[in-house]
Amino acid sequence: MNLFDVYPLNDIEIVKASGSTVWDAEGQEYLDLYGGHAVISIGHTHPHYVKRITDQLQQVGFYSNSVIIPLQAALAEKLGQVSGKTDYQLFLCNSGAEANENALKLASFYNGRKKVISFSGAFHGRTALAVAATDNPKIIAPVNETENVIFLPHNDIAALEQAFEQYGQEIAAVIIEGIQGVGGIKEASIPFLQKIRSLCDAHNAVYIADSVQCGYGRTGEFFSHDYAGVTADVYTTAKGMGNGFPIGGVVIAPKFKPWYGMLGTTFGGNHLACAAALAVLEVMEQDNLLTNAAEVGNYLITELKKIEGISEVRGRGLMIGIELPESLPNVKKDLLFKYHIFTGEAKPNVIRLLPALNLTKAQADQFLENFKLALKG
Ligand SMILES: Cc1ncc(COP(=O)(O)O)c(C=O)c1O
Repeated sequence: MNLFDVYPLNDIEIVKASGSTVWDAEGQEYLDLYGGHAVISIGHTHPHYVKRITDQLQQVGFYSNSVIIPLQAALAEKLGQVSGKTDYQLFLCNSGAEANENALKLASFYNGRKKVISFSGAFHGRTALAVAATDNPKIIAPVNETENVIFLPHNDIAALEQAFEQYGQEIAAVIIEGIQGVGGIKEASIPFLQKIRSLCDAHNAVYIADSVQCGYGRTGEFFSHDYAGVTADVYTTAKGMGNGFPIGGVVIAPKFKPWYGMLGTTFGGNHLACAAALAVLEVMEQDNLLTNAAEVGNYLITELKKIEGISEVRGRGLMIGIELPESLPNVKKDLLFKYHIFTGEAKPNVIRLLPALNLTKAQADQFLENFKLALKG
């Protein structure tokens, strides 16, 4: 059997990893500012993380949601404490798409409505409704097409007001990333998020904060949406939550009342996933990783803004987009193959930095030095 060939691959096999360093099969060392797509939050193979998962595996690796799994309650408690959402509820699943799918479903159950507002440049995942709310017709299969999703221009308050005027009582939810990731590191403006909050309140619609990429401490605030000073009804998480162990979460305001069977999953909240996610939060707290993400991230952003030849530097904390002019199409490739630094990308020519939250200033400097060389070609 062959693999179903859907990924354009770099010809690199990673065989070892530690912190923000990875090694390939030839022994070449790389600085990892991509974190396997914003997933590595506390660094590769963190000793506390490895021990917690290994210990758990020796006790019990999996049992279904038909029995009490105390690790789930422990995770909910810890997540409430670290994120500040102490009175919210947690539903556990396995990925970002699944978290958004469940959040949208929850919203529709809550107010009995069908329409979802999403925005230009949005990416919410590849499952049925998550992909329908994603602004990329190429990955929406005919079966996923629906008139229930209304796309509006990003950060356009007038368009949002008009949509609520027109569809008011039909709108189940507004879903928005605090900072668009796949869309190229574009921040939702603070007035825009505040307007979403007030319009959702006025129309009993649900404000869903897709925090799959921009959340979990990446920007220095646990949820980047909270820079706007208003809370969402539902936050969705995944990526950094398990530092590579697949886990997603729906963080749900107290006003939503569950009933048996409303949401469900076989693997969500399994023992190993909870152990991994608890280890992540413990390390985040012990090592003050939110503060580090803010400090090292702000340092990187400040230094990048001083470099000539860049079109724009965007983002917050350790979620950074470097927009390059068309005349520099090879910088990302050169960073990887000449300077041995992994970075992410977004179309048309944006370099995305999504490193572990314990990236050091020395590693930031190593990137800056090599990036300046890569810009020279
Ligand atoms: C903002 C956002 N939402 C949802 C997803 C989907 O997450 P997953 O790939 O875990 O399904 C992603 C993935 O890149 C994302 O960036």
